[in-house]
Amino acid sequence: METKRIIIKDRENIKDEELSAAAQVLREGGLVAFPTETVYGLGGNALDEDAAKKIYAAKGRPCDNPLIAHISCAEELEPLVKEIPEAGRRLMEAFWPGPLTMIFPKSSKVPYGTTGGLDTVAVRMPDDPIANRLIALAGVPIAAPSANTSGRPSPTTADHVWQDMNGRIEMIIDGGPVGIGVESTIVDVSSPVPAVLRPGAITMEMLREVLGEVTIDPAILGPMSPGVRPKAPGMKYKHYAPKADLTLVEPEGMAMDQDQVMRMVETVRKLAEEKCSLGFRVGIICTDESASEYPRGLVRSIGARRSQASVAHNLYAVLREFDDLKVDFIFSESFTEDHLGQAIMNRLSKAAGYRIVRV
Ligand code: TXA
Ligand code: MG
Repeated sequence: METKRIIIKDRENIKDEELSAAAQVLREGGLVAFPTETVYGLGGNALDEDAAKKIYAAKGRPCDNPLIAHISCAEELEPLVKEIPEAGRRLMEAFWPGPLTMIFPKSSKVPYGTTGGLDTVAVRMPDDPIANRLIALAGVPIAAPSANTSGRPSPTTADHVWQDMNGRIEMIIDGGPVGIGVESTIVDVSSPVPAVLRPGAITMEMLREVLGEVTIDPAILGPMSPGVRPKAPGMKYKHYAPKADLTLVEPEGMAMDQDQVMRMVETVRKLAEEKCSLGFRVGIICTDESASEYPRGLVRSIGARRSQASVAHNLYAVLREFDDLKVDFIFSESFTEDHLGQAIMNRLSKAAGYRIVRV
């Protein structure tokens, strides 16, 4: 299949003509990748089981891993769900449109092919103007997982999508690099106490301010013990993973004062040097502040330590770059786990397969 690439020049002034061909592909059951504020999504009609099958095939994704249905306005939620619990209403009001996905009991309209056989459905209303307009023009809810091959880091540019999806889908809409860079926060509002199933840019602190009590699925916090199933089926897969062995160096206690950061940098440098001396290609994930501390290895700054937003924004691009550079080992600094740091550390720890050296 030939994949068409449509470039949107001015994202703040999108003309419907620029998106009408893509909307038609979606209505007719085809697949279109498009930017959202979090990562690029691989869209298909969420009410069409055959479209869902095509999404799983294009990604090489196990089909028990459910898809998120994307909507363009609040009115489009009701037909997809059995009820909207109070917590859901409050979160919609506070954070939609935006990087928040909520799990609701599903209505009969949503096929099991989209929800991986579950009686719940994940719904998100993206804030990105291209995503929002495209969904509205398609006139149907759009199932959209991240537009990467299953197991690879999520795409944050149209080039990343092209690398994984060229020849496998009808169309890619190129709206430039995304803003946030990590996937949406997922909150299950179908349970009595709302639970975070995946951390993202709507942080625990922000959720607590609106809801008071929020729990966190244990699968987010560390490697899964046998027999424990994460509530978001996707969190059980080795995910976000670069091809090389990634090791995360983490200070004990994670206060990240000056001393701890220095010790962490020293350990990353030592570990990298050991592997360099053995002739391996070694990648180092550091920050703007520490980049000059590493004399050996392929050194890439992931952003500024004082700006969590910059780190989230660059995270997947750096992992993909190390794939392209064919490094054997990657050593990475770690980050505080407050605010957006929880999402950053969740993705980095999973990318490392929880291979963590504590200093
Ligand atoms: O930011 C995002 O959410 C991006 C953009 C494209 O919107 N999408 C995304 O989709 O990250 P995906 O498919 O890569 O991740 C969806 C996650 C998976 O971990 C899946 O298991 C979980 O959501 N999920 C979907 N439906 C669910 C449900 N009914 N119950 C629990 N978890 C669900
Ligand atoms: Mg994904």
